[in-house]
Amino acid sequence: MSRPHLVVIPAVPDVVLARLRERADVTDVSSMPRAEWGAALADATGVLGGSGVPIDAAFLAQAPALRIVAMQSVGYDSVDLAALRERGVVLTNSRGSLTEAVADTAYWLVTAALRDYGRSMAWARDGRWLREGDAPYGHDLQGATLGIVGLGAIGAAVARRAQAGGMRVIYSNRHPRTDDAATGAAYRTFDQLLAEADCVVALVPLTPQTRRMFDAAAFARMKPTAYFVNAARGAVCDTAALLKALERKQIAGAALDVTDPEPLPPDHPLFAREDVLIVPHVGSATVETRTRMAMLAAENLLAFIDGKPLLTPVEV
Ligand code: DGY
Repeated sequence: MSRPHLVVIPAVPDVVLARLRERADVTDVSSMPRAEWGAALADATGVLGGSGVPIDAAFLAQAPALRIVAMQSVGYDSVDLAALRERGVVLTNSRGSLTEAVADTAYWLVTAALRDYGRSMAWARDGRWLREGDAPYGHDLQGATLGIVGLGAIGAAVARRAQAGGMRVIYSNRHPRTDDAATGAAYRTFDQLLAEADCVVALVPLTPQTRRMFDAAAFARMKPTAYFVNAARGAVCDTAALLKALERKQIAGAALDVTDPEPLPPDHPLFAREDVLIVPHVGSATVETRTRMAMLAAENLLAFIDGKPLLTPVEV
């Protein structure tokens, strides 16, 4: 019997490719130009996908035999769910494998924003330390209020870190959770949270409802002393509105792991601002976590091939 053919889109560790090759023929297209993927996709049963490559109707048209897409990301906003549904293709994501790494990044961005570390780093590097002495002071985290927009598994892990550092944590979700006593975070409506938090951190998935939810009106509701952190998806924030809010000093600063567009061009005005710190979507980017994410995607593909229950299925 012929072995199923799997196509791997992002660069994954060798150990993951070796695991897949135990049961399937595998084509790693990670270093091939996009235009040359057609031959590999033509008879692919499964695809291991990453958040940078849209899986849409045009992609599916190239892969007529495709039956499963296994994402090595928790987010699947790059996947056209309706197109998958129409073709009967199943989907999995990598939830659970990156919670702590992303929470580390999100909480570090909260710390960096409140303490103004972006400006301090520039101050040391460009000689102002030598010429002018101390950098401007940041603010204590202890006693400050963190507003988490989207308290899922990653949000709860951020809340734990913040509470350990003495922060008060509030959150907004589509619906209040039933375990506020366990998370120690108090529910607020989105507008209440914006008005109350000293730092607002976005951790919502990107959906039609959350796209650009951080717009001019949202920034206008925040305190002028408050900071905005985005560790979700760039498009939950209206970039032009964020820039305007910073220019008008409606908010005190921002720290971003994700941007819209992504990557942000190096000449973008946000890069020129010392009240903004930007890192290039590194939330889950550790050797261990990225290996775990890719391996989970691989195990989902193998479970599918073997007719076993999927580990982390997503409803399409
Ligand atoms: C995710 O898993 O969605 C992270 O943002 C990495 O892409």
